[in-house]
Amino acid sequence: MSRIVYVNGEYLPEGDAKVSIFDRGFLFADGVYEVTSVLDSKLIDFDGHAVRLERSLNELGMNHPIPKDDLLEVHRELMRRNDLTEGMIYLQITRGADADRDFVYPSEDTPNTIVLFTQAKNLKDSPMVAKGMKVISIEDQRWGRRDIKTVQLLYPSMGKMMAKAANADDAWMVEDGAITEGTSNNAYIVKGNRIITRHLGNEILHGITRAAVLRFAKSAQMEVEERAFTLDEAKAADEAFITSASTFVMPVVEMDGQPIGTGKPGSVALRLREIYLDESLKAAV
Ligand code: PDD
Repeated sequence: MSRIVYVNGEYLPEGDAKVSIFDRGFLFADGVYEVTSVLDSKLIDFDGHAVRLERSLNELGMNHPIPKDDLLEVHRELMRRNDLTEGMIYLQITRGADADRDFVYPSEDTPNTIVLFTQAKNLKDSPMVAKGMKVISIEDQRWGRRDIKTVQLLYPSMGKMMAKAANADDAWMVEDGAITEGTSNNAYIVKGNRIITRHLGNEILHGITRAAVLRFAKSAQMEVEERAFTLDEAKAADEAFITSASTFVMPVVEMDGQPIGTGKPGSVALRLREIYLDESLKAAV
């Protein structure tokens, strides 16, 4: 069965979906995106993703092409048409297609391009949960507005390739000696029962999973410290983990070839994963 995708108001087989070669997403990475996970045929934290999308559009001075309720309906229709019970829905909005290539933005009445598609995947029972992830550290060479979820993902993609070449699963990026985040996830360490993760700012994406996990951790009386932590602290941590919409909470067991803590998935990460899955499913739409 061919996947049905959504492009500018139409549901089409993926092979029939087209966007212009002059689209600014294609020429300038002038676009934003969201990834929302689907579990038991329901959307996890749709509201959080919709709010962040609105913020990303505002920060780039882009139009809001689709009201939140309509966007929810498109997500649900794609789930129905593709029989998606578990996986992700990818959404991208660009500034649209100009008449030609021009650094200057096109006029405001240029329609945005909106694309959504489904990705079927087993998220809950990922084999990585029992194994834990191996990460390497790399220099953070991204631009200065990482809080905006833009489609400029070349450096994160290069980071994944560097990790792969080192037989690792991901890379944590380092700036001025401190960890910013993973290539497509937020980074955490645990030291003496304290969960430490970088504070919000322009240096990292404000993860929707991060916000939920920190809320759940605080309700479970776990201690949370939001501050920059160094690569040395990460290497000396009791445990480490990441969060994102597609991995939820995932243990990290190795940094630059050295085990973190016992070298096995940590109890704090595993407990938080369980709480996150329970609570998010209860609130899923
Ligand atoms: N990535 N940091 C970065 C750089 C990310 O790209 C992501 C998400 C996160 C976690 O954010 P959230 O919890 O809202 O998913 C942090 C998505 C999943 C992706 O690019 O596929």
